[in-house]
Amino acid sequence: MNYLEQINPNNIPQHVAIIMDGNGRWAKKQGMNRIFGHRNALTSIRESVAAASDIGTKAITLYAFSTENWNRPKLEVDALMSLLINSLKKELPGFQENNIKINAIGCLESLPTKAQKTLADVIEATKNNTTLTLTFALSYGSREEIVNAVKNISKKIVNNELSVEEIDEKIINNHLYTVSLPEVDLVIRSSGEQRISNFLLWQIAYAEFHFTKVLWPDFRKNDFYKAVVEYQNRERRFGKTSEQIEDLNE
Ligand code: IPE
Ligand code: IPE
Ligand code: MG
Repeated sequence: MNYLEQINPNNIPQHVAIIMDGNGRWAKKQGMNRIFGHRNALTSIRESVAAASDIGTKAITLYAFSTENWNRPKLEVDALMSLLINSLKKELPGFQENNIKINAIGCLESLPTKAQKTLADVIEATKNNTTLTLTFALSYGSREEIVNAVKNISKKIVNNELSVEEIDEKIINNHLYTVSLPEVDLVIRSSGEQRISNFLLWQIAYAEFHFTKVLWPDFRKNDFYKAVVEYQNRERRFGKTSEQIEDLNE
């Protein structure tokens, strides 16, 4: 089925966050090592970004490496870091051509120096691009992000730049790595797992979820469109009643 045809252009998710899972299983299925799976994830990233761009989604955030992923075998971690560096360099002309702004969230200081440098260069080079913001969550953990926010807010209180009474949802939001991004509308997770794995806990308070069995290296544009169609068939009530939402739409 071609899902693009079913998309309503008036209800496009503005921010889609993707938990790209299943590279290891995809590789194992064909008797290859896990790193082969990670290498084949790049096409899926390109397809998702192109699909998002085509329908007018303004932000896409990809969970590429979690704080917990540091516990994987060193060989795999090293391969993922090299892949990150090489892909960012290789894709830069494509980002420019498609007007894509690169962004990163996470504990970036824990990345290898070379990865930090490449990332900073690509972010700088694409900072004026406007079609879509592509954010990589790297060494990202939502709990770490919240700890970091609490520390930074506390420092401001100690320095008398902020009072305890002033702390509200907006202040907390402003101290998260995602400060510049719109609200997350849709979360997609590939590979059949139905869990969040420490991704954007605060930010997904009212997001819709799409879980697909497709393993990430097999994920294509049409899989992205399918998630959007499912999103559009949901009624987002934000605590209100169905009748109230219908009145609003009239
Ligand atoms: C997702 O695929 C990529 C990363 C977490 C870096 P996995 O490597 O988790 O693949 P599976 O879940 O083992 O199949
Ligand atoms: C989540 O995938 C992290 C990324 C996609 C980067 P994992 O494969 O690490 O998650 P768990 O451990 O199965 O929950
Ligand atoms: Mg996994």
